[in-house]
Amino acid sequence: KTKNGGNLRCPIVCVLGHVDHGKTTLLDKIRKTRVAKREAGGITQHIGASEIPIDVIKRVCGDLLNMLKADLKIPGLLVIDTPGHEAFTSLRKRGGALADIAILVVDINEGFKPQTIEAVNILRQCKTPFVVAANKIDLIPGWNSKEMPFILNFNEKNQHPNALTEFEIRLYENVIKPLNELGFEADLYSRVQDVTKTVCIVPVSAVTGEGIPDLLMMVAGLAQKFLEDRLKLNVEGYAKGTILEVKEERGLGTTIDAIIYDGIAKRGDYLVVGLPDGVLVTRVKALLKPKPLDEMRDPRDKFKPVNEVTAAAGVKIAAPDLDKVIAGCPIRIVPKDKIEEAKEEVMREVEEAKIEVDDEGILIKADTLGSLEALANELRKAGVKIKKAEVGDVTKKDVIEVASYKQSNPLYGAIVAFNVKILPEAQKEIEKYGIKVFVDNIIYKLVEDFTEWVKKEEE
Ligand code: GTP
Ligand code: MG
Ligand code: NA
Repeated sequence: KTKNGGNLRCPIVCVLGHVDHGKTTLLDKIRKTRVAKREAGGITQHIGASEIPIDVIKRVCGDLLNMLKADLKIPGLLVIDTPGHEAFTSLRKRGGALADIAILVVDINEGFKPQTIEAVNILRQCKTPFVVAANKIDLIPGWNSKEMPFILNFNEKNQHPNALTEFEIRLYENVIKPLNELGFEADLYSRVQDVTKTVCIVPVSAVTGEGIPDLLMMVAGLAQKFLEDRLKLNVEGYAKGTILEVKEERGLGTTIDAIIYDGIAKRGDYLVVGLPDGVLVTRVKALLKPKPLDEMRDPRDKFKPVNEVTAAAGVKIAAPDLDKVIAGCPIRIVPKDKIEEAKEEVMREVEEAKIEVDDEGILIKADTLGSLEALANELRKAGVKIKKAEVGDVTKKDVIEVASYKQSNPLYGAIVAFNVKILPEAQKEIEKYGIKVFVDNIIYKLVEDFTEWVKKEEE
């Protein structure tokens, strides 16, 4: 038995929805963090992760928990934040596939948008149950929004009749109706009789905090219910995970931040990493856990060393030889006799995620496999040919390679790089060969800048 209460697996909750409908802000409100405010371009461009412990859920929900018919036995929730920008379909798919349950965030005033529909289709495909957070209710004309359960604020005493009418119209037109059109029964959560047949809609405001108790109560209750049904409550076997980020840490060298979505990771076991050009096997020197309620990507506090980590969880891993490892790669943490099995698994996963390239074209670089995939897809949509796609900084070798692409077509003498650095050694070569390099930390800006350049060059 593990310390998180008898081998109960912590459910993974994926937050999905259209760009700017409020996913990150909603999590910020729950965590009391300010992640959304610090994001480049105001958009999320990576998968994030944070743990919400059960005592926080119980405290926030208070008496609302009586609405659930069962006691909460889960140790908490591992919440995965995803980008809503259209470029990041692959990250949404990965998030949706990892999740036990999802929160679909919809701006109740804007209604369903392309990535809302895409998210529903991903969830349908993965058979992932979901609740809808109908966000931004504070913007409903006349709505008196307060930091309290929605269910206690939704009445004629607290709201003007016109505001209640506006709410009902938006709820129906912008959330229920589009869900019906996609083949889902849906209703305000308090009106739902059977949660296995009808999608529950929880009105919330990420700004005022209204409805967050209702949302956490529904998500925790549903996660527990669906996990029990799927008999996925017990954790056993070796750890399976995905790398979120590769980071230098003082005193630890190169470390990886990962999500463990299944099994148990033990210090001293072997870390098996699937890479685009092979498999790395190394030994786990340290496992470090982020503080509860911290976003792993942007933590407020130091990580704490532990001997073992039980899924689902975020974890920092220190081990030798991690400098060639890249974000987005699959990992396993296994005892010695399982190394071969783990190698085969990660190799299969890497093969499935490979980016197709053209016979000729430009070179693209990005900071993670997920963003590289997103960048490649966006450039393809714009008709751009890609000869090579790699994770990592722009090196001298890259520039020399692109100089050879340029000989066949001047428009191929370009590097498009997302969220990485141009190494100093590469700078001289860029000038020498007249290579055009586009670097930005906002993915759609890169695509715009590059296609604009091509247009100008063609004139
Ligand atoms: P991506 O990750 O880029 O897809 O966006 P997101 O869904 O995470 O949205 P984000 O949290 O970045 O919020 C987008 C904007 O909406 C920000 O300016 C937020 O302050 C604002 N916002 C989010 N939730 C609410 C809300 O409930 N009410 C109001 N008034 N504004 C909100
Ligand atoms: Mg976001
Ligand atoms: Na945003």
